[in-house]
Amino acid sequence: MPMTKHGIEVLRDPSLNKSTAFTEEEKQALVIVGLVPDVTESEDLQLSRVMMQLGHKTTDLDRYVYLVNLLDHNETLFYRTIMSDPARFLPIVYDPTIGEACLKFGHIYRQARGMYLSITRRGKVKDILRNWPEKDVRFICVTDGGRILGLGDLGANGAGIPIGKLELYTACAGVPPQYLMPMYLDAGTNNEQYLHDPLYLGMRKTQPKTEELYSFVDEFVAAVQEVFPKCCIHFEDWTGSDAVHLLGRYRDKYCVYNDDVQGTAGIVLAGMINAARIKGTKLSDEKYLFLGAGSAGIGLANLLCSAMAEEGLTLKQAQSHVYMFDINGLLETTRKDLFDFQKPYAHKHAPTHDFVAAIESIKPTTIIGVSTVGGTFTKEVVETMARLNERPVILALSNPTEHAECTPEQAYTWSKGKAIYAAGVQFPPVQLNGQTFLPGQANNFYIFPAIGMAIFATQAKRVTDQMFIESARAVADQVPNDLLKQGLLYPLQSNILETEIQTAARVAKLVFDSGLARVDRPSDMVSFIRRHVYKPMYSSTVSAKKAA
Ligand code: NAI
Repeated sequence: MPMTKHGIEVLRDPSLNKSTAFTEEEKQALVIVGLVPDVTESEDLQLSRVMMQLGHKTTDLDRYVYLVNLLDHNETLFYRTIMSDPARFLPIVYDPTIGEACLKFGHIYRQARGMYLSITRRGKVKDILRNWPEKDVRFICVTDGGRILGLGDLGANGAGIPIGKLELYTACAGVPPQYLMPMYLDAGTNNEQYLHDPLYLGMRKTQPKTEELYSFVDEFVAAVQEVFPKCCIHFEDWTGSDAVHLLGRYRDKYCVYNDDVQGTAGIVLAGMINAARIKGTKLSDEKYLFLGAGSAGIGLANLLCSAMAEEGLTLKQAQSHVYMFDINGLLETTRKDLFDFQKPYAHKHAPTHDFVAAIESIKPTTIIGVSTVGGTFTKEVVETMARLNERPVILALSNPTEHAECTPEQAYTWSKGKAIYAAGVQFPPVQLNGQTFLPGQANNFYIFPAIGMAIFATQAKRVTDQMFIESARAVADQVPNDLLKQGLLYPLQSNILETEIQTAARVAKLVFDSGLARVDRPSDMVSFIRRHVYKPMYSSTVSAKKAA
């Protein structure tokens, strides 16, 4: 039986509330006459009020808090706002503002959003999942707060990340919000500052041993299969080894993916495809050196090798194009501290802790910063790359902003305009010697919402690496030639919904081709995706559909 809502309950439900836009007929039917101002405003007028109020805020964090508050009261108006100007609002609801919001999560907290599941609830996870008000959940974005952006272990403060990520499913690709559940799995934190902060919202204990954590995650994953059988679990911002291990543990059994491993890989691969296009080469003509060999680095290296294999190399040949350098120096065969998943990228080479020396010796055409450490692509690094390459590709992906390995201005200036550059966060265009350079943002929000939409529409049974490669190709193909010439590796954000619809359609086709869909194959893939897209418009049938 659908829940009947009338009176003040309607105004308190953000998915039903229209604030000042209820018609007279709706006010009568919903018994809210007198509970709202006696006007019927259009959505556009409401939007202009939101814009005016946002204009009075002085910091992005204040704008973030305002928008979260709007979402708590009026979901449609929230999405109408951020979808009206994605290039302006994505950096506020997500990177880089979300980083600051997470650091202060317990302090700016207003109201619960998503679920919070502590390890002390072991044995009862299924029952707790049933407390969620929606019965058909299609995506759970889950973190343990272990490695939030490039900020490290933030424990419960990391809960802001699944909330923000899922907002992007809707804002960027139109996945309807009622199917999305943010989740924080609380197994403790090793963050001393938060453990002593009276406003911290998580358990005050340090993280358990890996086996204990994984057995808790096992219970959670199994419970999801039973309570929400059509649900895809999106792992987000776990520490590097947990991210890779948990993905390996579940990926062949359930519909799961890890955005840091696979989504990052997809978006960077899209950039690499276009960098090669600018240079007139193929992926397999290039040589890659990573700074950072954690979840993002390994995920990318693996996907890149799969894509090079599709160009005709064997896996071993492809791996020989990829070198990695981490906090302990170059990954090479004498290193004793490597995880199994890092070993394919440890080649025969003299040990070195000097990144510039590694560049001199390996002569990469592309360097990729996934180290979490700002400023590590120094002037010397960029100059060395520019000396060795006509068009050095420099991808400084760590975020938030101050963690970028170098800024676009530094990359273009130090390379004298030769660099092909992208960052993990948004930077403005750079003017150098009368030329305009457009730094791209290698942000996974071009990938995971589109993959999400494809999974949602096809009810895919599994998430495969091929889906990420296809999404990378689709994203790369949507950058017009004139912008490619200015060095732009990614499509413009202003048109992100349309870009993601096209990407989702290509991924959906692959899902059907691979026999992973649980719905009938449509004749026209783009219209099929469009039919599933959420629109931030009030429904005139609120009373009939949800409240009557
Ligand atoms: P991680 O913690 O798993 O790995 C970090 C790696 O960097 C480790 O291999 C570590 O040894 C290495 N490292 C740390 N300090 C270093 C130093 N001074 N020199 C050389 N290597 C160093 O982290 P993960 O998940 O791989 O993420 C890395 C970064 O990538 C983060 O800053 C994250 O924000 C960023 N990222 C960017 C995305 C994007 O869309 N652009 C998406 C996902 C992650």
